[in-house]
Amino acid sequence: MQAANRDKLIVALDFPAYDDARHLVDTLGDTVSFYKVGLELLFHDGLALASELKNDGKRVFLDMKFLDIANTVEKAVAAVAGLGFDFLTIHGTDTKTMAAAVKGRGNAPLKLLAVTVLTSLDQTDLADQGIAMTPQDLVLKRARLALDAGIDGVIASGQEAAAIRAATAPNFLIVTPGIRMPGGEAGDQKRITTPDEALRAGANHIVVGRPITAASNPKSAAESVLQRIALA
Ligand code: C5P
Repeated sequence: MQAANRDKLIVALDFPAYDDARHLVDTLGDTVSFYKVGLELLFHDGLALASELKNDGKRVFLDMKFLDIANTVEKAVAAVAGLGFDFLTIHGTDTKTMAAAVKGRGNAPLKLLAVTVLTSLDQTDLADQGIAMTPQDLVLKRARLALDAGIDGVIASGQEAAAIRAATAPNFLIVTPGIRMPGGEAGDQKRITTPDEALRAGANHIVVGRPITAASNPKSAAESVLQRIALA
C-alpha cells in the first residue's frame, strides 16, 4: 500500500472516552495514518489524544465546525493553527466567517475545510431558515464562496463530489464522509457511497467511522477499505 493511498483514509474517532479511542489507534497501528477527532471526543481528552497522534507521526483532522463572529473565529483558528494539526472544519455559511478563518490560519500548513450544508438538513429545514434554494444548489453556491474566500476545500457527500469538483478547482480539497463498503450497514447515513465511488467522483479523502470502529476486526476492516481505495 502506497503512503499516498493510505493518506486518503481518515478514520473518525467518534468515541465517548479517551481509552476507547486510544485502544482503536493502537489496534490499527501502521494501517491507518490519518484520524478525525470531533466534538464528542474533544471533551474526553480528545485534544490530548490529537497531540499524541501528531507526536506519533499521524495526521490529524479536527472536526470542530467553528461558526461565530469574525474576531472569534480568527483567533480560534489561529490557536488551532499553532498546535500543528492538519485539517480543521468551519461552517461555510458566509464569507465573513471563512475570510476570518483564512486570516487566522495565516501561513500555517493547516488546511481549512468548509461544511457547506449539513447532510442532516433537507429542503424543509432550509425553509425554516428562510432559504428557498435546494440543498444541492446551496452546497454548490457555498463551495464557490469557500473557494473565493481562500478556503482549501469542503466536506461533501460522494454524491455531491463530482458537481463540486466541476464548480470549483482541481486543487480544491473534497473530503467525503458517509462511506460504506458494498453491502454494508447504512446506519443513520443517507447519502452513502463506497470508498472507490467517492474517490472516482473527485474526493481527495474519505472519512470512515463505524465501518471500521464498530467492526469485529477493525484492522482487517481498514485494510478492506484501503483495498477499495487502491481500486479507484
Ligand atoms: O460512522 P460513520 O462512518 O457514519 O462516521 C462518519 C463521520 O463523518 C462521523 O464523524 C460524522 O460526524 C462525520 N460526518 C458525516 N456527515 C457529514 C459531516 C461529517 O457523517 N456531512
